[in-house]
Amino acid sequence: MDLHGGNIYKLLRNGKEDILDYSSNINPFGVPETLKKSILENLDILEKYPDINYVGLKKSIGDYNNISKDNIIVGNGATEILFLYMKALKPKKVLIVSPTFAEYERSLKDLDAEISFFKLDEVNNFILDMEKLKQEATSYDLLVLCNPNNPTGSFMGKEELLKLNNHLEKVKTRIFIDECFIEFIDDWENKSLINLKSDNIFILRALTKFFALPGIRLGYGITYDYNILNKIENIREPWSVNAFADLAGKIILKDTQYIDKTKKWILEEKIWFYEKLKEINKIKVYRSNSNFILVRLEEIRAEIFCKLMIEKGILVRNASNFRFLDDKYVRFAIKDREKNRKVLKIIKEVLK
Ligand SMILES: Cc1ncc(COP(=O)(O)O)c(C=O)c1O
Repeated sequence: MDLHGGNIYKLLRNGKEDILDYSSNINPFGVPETLKKSILENLDILEKYPDINYVGLKKSIGDYNNISKDNIIVGNGATEILFLYMKALKPKKVLIVSPTFAEYERSLKDLDAEISFFKLDEVNNFILDMEKLKQEATSYDLLVLCNPNNPTGSFMGKEELLKLNNHLEKVKTRIFIDECFIEFIDDWENKSLINLKSDNIFILRALTKFFALPGIRLGYGITYDYNILNKIENIREPWSVNAFADLAGKIILKDTQYIDKTKKWILEEKIWFYEKLKEINKIKVYRSNSNFILVRLEEIRAEIFCKLMIEKGILVRNASNFRFLDDKYVRFAIKDREKNRKVLKIIKEVLK
């Protein structure tokens, strides 16, 4: 089974056309028009290497987040930053809050790290038991947390994370927080851990999800630990962020129209889609803070459900290969109202 959503190419190769992709969690407004225009006007930048230090790009990311460019590292998607961070840190004992994004585990594969998993309990709707985590994490050098979490959509508030960090920095347990989906949360600017300015924390971000740019590959990391920042800069390959990605980061983060439109859409649509899914019998729906929703199917296996959905033109993420989930779980992206209505109708037909 595929480790990620979005393997629409496999379907296209098998002759399936007109597929609506509900497996990958990308902003339905698509590539910002400002970027399309800018790329067309700047095709000549392909003749040059991008700035090896990415000063302009880091400045733009810094302005967007209200922080200094000196605390930012950029990469070929968030995934590159994740792998570089682990390579630079070489943690010995890592605790990963799960079910979650599979690449954390993969990024540690060749590093001889002892990996353990802190289970999010279905009985608690996958909401993190902070007290329990506080106790357990103390014997690790690194805690990995996705916030909001993929695939559960659960989110930990800043106050609680602040307390967790205060506790863990005393016992030298670092925290790696993946905030790649945080911009889908209302008032995220005040909920991100960036403003904490703690050197015990490393934050991962992507332009992939909120700005609908998985194909351009642009992510970044933020930290106040200059030691790890320098280590990453030293081991990374030069120019891994291409010229168009460099341009994208300078353009779209200033596109307030696109940003405001997206914020308005997700605020309304995540409530609407959740409520509508909840009206459907034979499924359990978990409340999500992000642009996707995890669902447990009560009477049909995920594999069969996904097959039936594909026959009706909808690609859904079979979530059964996430650690601690089983063949009852699927994940839906949230898109625009018209598409969401269509998907709801098809889900009902399939479950009938
Ligand atoms: C939680 C999470 N972090 C990071 C990524 C990777 O982002 P990118 O495509 O920018 O490498 C993903 C992709 O699905 C994800 O779900």
